[in-house]
Amino acid sequence: MDDIRQLLRGIPVFDGELPSFDVDSAPERPGELFVEWLTAALDAGVREPHAMTVSTIGSHGTPDARMLILKNLDARGWQFAAHADSPKGRDLIATPTAALTFYWPLQARQIRVRGPVTPEPAERSAADFLARPAGSRAEASIGKQSQTLPDRNDLETATKQALATIEATPGHVVPEWTLFTLDATTVEFWQGDKARKHTRLRYTATGEDLWTREELWP
Ligand SMILES: Cc1cc2nc3c(=O)[nH]c(=O)nc-3n(C[C@H](O)[C@H](O)[C@H](O)COP(=O)(O)O)c2cc1C
Repeated sequence: MDDIRQLLRGIPVFDGELPSFDVDSAPERPGELFVEWLTAALDAGVREPHAMTVSTIGSHGTPDARMLILKNLDARGWQFAAHADSPKGRDLIATPTAALTFYWPLQARQIRVRGPVTPEPAERSAADFLARPAGSRAEASIGKQSQTLPDRNDLETATKQALATIEATPGHVVPEWTLFTLDATTVEFWQGDKARKHTRLRYTATGEDLWTREELWP
């Protein structure tokens, strides 16, 4: 066990050149700063910067979390999609609130978003489903995500059948596929610093597209 402790302690944190974060010139809306940071992450070569941890509250108040891809960010909010009959889908329908966390290690940047979550109407969810590649649509059609898989051959068979259905009916939509929108109440931008004097800027919603900005202690 001592070896593991040594190994962990030896891993560098916030190594290399880090970007600066001038909070005084931060835009009025968090969406604009997110796009600035996302573009910088892409330019810096961060892989999958649109992947985020989605934290939900399960039955009995137990937290759960997993990575998902951010699909869109617009005036309505932060959008991601899931099968309604997956653990995360069930959590979100029973307790419609979530936290999103992005972390881009190359730049020591973290973004935290919190707020209520609403399922989008069926036609928007269907449009999201139909925009997915055939393989992803097939996997979603099977709909057993996170159930136990005693025999991997079952996955092969189910995938073949689902792909055949999709090829035969290209407009086929899984009704449980749901586009969710998180309407942010707070969005925090965190810039790591080698000297641990991290810079944190939190936006808090005060009305329709109106935000206050405040710095937080590291
Ligand atoms: C980078 C990354 C992106 C992912 N994107 C998705 C996604 O968009 N949709 C999805 O259902 N699962 C995605 N997954 C898998 C989920 O993290 C998770 O394992 C799966 O959705 C089951 O979660 P649940 O049991 O909480 O419902 C992704 C995983 C990683 C590592």
